[in-house]
Amino acid sequence: MSNSAKIRTLKSVVNAIGFEGKSLLSINDLSDDQLYGLFELALQLEPWNRSVVPLATGNVISTLFFQPSTRTRMSFETAMHRLGGAVISEANPLVTSAAAKEESLPDMIKVVSKYANIIAMRHFDDVAAREAAPYSEVPVINCGWGHWEHPTQALLDLYTLYRTYGRIEGLKVCVASPDLIEARTGHSMAQGLARLGAKVYLASTKERRIPEEVMAKIAARGIKVEEVLDCSQDSFNELCSGMDMVYLPGCSAPKGAAAEAFKAIMDDYFLRFEMLDKVAKDQNRTIYVTHTLPRRAGEMDLRIDNSPHQLYFEAVSYSVSIRMALILSMLGM
Ligand code: CP
Repeated sequence: MSNSAKIRTLKSVVNAIGFEGKSLLSINDLSDDQLYGLFELALQLEPWNRSVVPLATGNVISTLFFQPSTRTRMSFETAMHRLGGAVISEANPLVTSAAAKEESLPDMIKVVSKYANIIAMRHFDDVAAREAAPYSEVPVINCGWGHWEHPTQALLDLYTLYRTYGRIEGLKVCVASPDLIEARTGHSMAQGLARLGAKVYLASTKERRIPEEVMAKIAARGIKVEEVLDCSQDSFNELCSGMDMVYLPGCSAPKGAAAEAFKAIMDDYFLRFEMLDKVAKDQNRTIYVTHTLPRRAGEMDLRIDNSPHQLYFEAVSYSVSIRMALILSMLGM
């Protein structure tokens, strides 16, 4: 196919997705068809993961990150550069922008939206971010807000799963963390997986189980997910031995006096390389593991990194084309 024919095909996929001018605050802002449309578009954009396809020339994305980030900010910026667009970035706005002079978030969003065509923002306070987003004149992307949602991390992890298996429906996936209250990626991913027909297991401590709001949204669609509470390391690994993928959204460990006790709880959710290896040998099947990263020392067995089970670094590659797809669908080409 010629380059111009390829671009015509891309345009028709963008049009079919129908997300022009829309914001992505929650994974539920995308319909199931739009999710699959983005997967299709990302697949077609993958050849340009490491080069340039100038489909967004003249457009600007602003990355406003009120919390630290390596992956999310850089992959959005890479995606826009690969599309031939430009980037204006605030990686520490509380120090380097007028937010340091107590400018309100709505004012900041309103102003930045006069410059940029898309705003990609991370914020520590999801309520403030959700209240400020409507002040934007351009689409806003939630790049991780408070403990609420991180929809583009879920989008890239869903895409990675789709690229690995060719489907999501029917796959067994365990979303696991001792603390699923604060796991914003886990909230978005559990909903995305359930909606696309995966059989979802949510493993956490009873005390820190997934918020009722997330469970209610899944239940409102008539979908059942299974909670598995207060695992031991043996029971956790037994559960995971029946999965197609184990999804580790990480968790923020407490500091000070509570740190040691939490370390012991984290140990109950330690995925054993030996279990993954045994299932591969005995059943001739691969249980894939992904972690949203960053990870802490002791959180997982590093032998997984160089094994066929590892998907977390693959996901980083896929993140560029799926974010290119999201940007194009918002711009409408
Ligand atoms: N997964 C993720 O959100 O990573 P960063 O914090 O590096 O963006």
